Amino acid sequence: MTTTENTIETNTLEPLMQIQQQHYKIAENVDLYIGDSKNIPKTTKFTMIYFDPPFNSDRDYILNCDSSLGFSDKWTDVEYEEFIKSHIDVLYELLENDGTLFFHISSSCMYIPEKILRNKFKLVEPIFWKKCRSKNNVKTKLGSVVDIIWKCNKINKYKFNLVTQEKDATYLKNSFKNKDSRGNYALGHLVTENTKKGYMYEIKIGDLVFNPESGWRIKETELKKLIEEDRIHMPTKKGANLYKKIYLHENPGKPCTDLWDDIHSISQGSEERKYPTAKPIKLLERLIEISTNVGDYVYDPMCGSGTTAKAANNLNRKCIINDINPDIIEIVMSRFQ
Ligand SMILES: C[S@@+](CC[C@H](N)C(=O)[O-])C[C@H]1O[C@@H](n2cnc3c(N)ncnc32)[C@H](O)[C@@H]1O
Repeated sequence: MTTTENTIETNTLEPLMQIQQQHYKIAENVDLYIGDSKNIPKTTKFTMIYFDPPFNSDRDYILNCDSSLGFSDKWTDVEYEEFIKSHIDVLYELLENDGTLFFHISSSCMYIPEKILRNKFKLVEPIFWKKCRSKNNVKTKLGSVVDIIWKCNKINKYKFNLVTQEKDATYLKNSFKNKDSRGNYALGHLVTENTKKGYMYEIKIGDLVFNPESGWRIKETELKKLIEEDRIHMPTKKGANLYKKIYLHENPGKPCTDLWDDIHSISQGSEERKYPTAKPIKLLERLIEISTNVGDYVYDPMCGSGTTAKAANNLNRKCIINDINPDIIEIVMSRFQ
């Protein structure tokens, strides 16, 4: 087999080249390496790195009782800290200056990586991923339904794309109660909170005068335009505020927050679950969308079943993935057939 011509159609698993790791070309924009991720060839810098290492959960992971597919996750805290620190040192160097590293960890084990990440990165912020609604099999402790994804940046002005999350049903039901000829709308604040000063001016509509003490959130010209376009909700009570009409049909989603409760984990026994601890494709697509543009490079040093590669490929990003476990080669290949 020749080097770069090895595509998934050949379905052969010979290594392409031997630079400490074994290298497989999975798809035009997807390269897989097998080996310790610290030995990855350091020729590319990445706009986004998704790091989903073993969590220090003191157990072995297998796909199911009849399978040996998986990996061990038993450490002392000292060993785990050393393992994470040495990998973060490598990943930091591989990340573009305006790039983002996402570190995925369970909420019960978040403290060791948090300490390491805060020593290394300028910005470290948690995303709370609510992976399921309940844990019905837990009787003697609180069911853990949240994973933490630490979002880490080297500089304040990192690459960022705003994406939307679906509005939740209760919010939709309670907030979009008002209606006019355009459709249902919610009320958006126009007056600033009284803890900070806004734009100070007076607005007359018919006989009514509005002059909020703490000022307006928008400039006078913008408010006048909204009035002209009938995009202002008039108060029914004397002395009440004006509100901006936020139409449901113009706002299908809400700007993404740091609580992700709209993506469910892959359930055990599901067809989709090809590897223990495999993450849902939607989760990776969102992480890639907020942090990269088409054509950017994405890296997953401990890729397991290759979810990151699949998501990156769907979104036309270039992707390099790596894992120490050779069993994942066939799983990754099967996802691209
Ligand atoms: C939590 S799983 C990743 C699951 C993956 N995100 C998915 O969606 O399938 C962690 C992976 O780290 C790999 N791993 C552990 N130590 C490693 C090392 N030193 N270098 C590369 N991979 C490693 C394990 O083999 C395992 O597949």
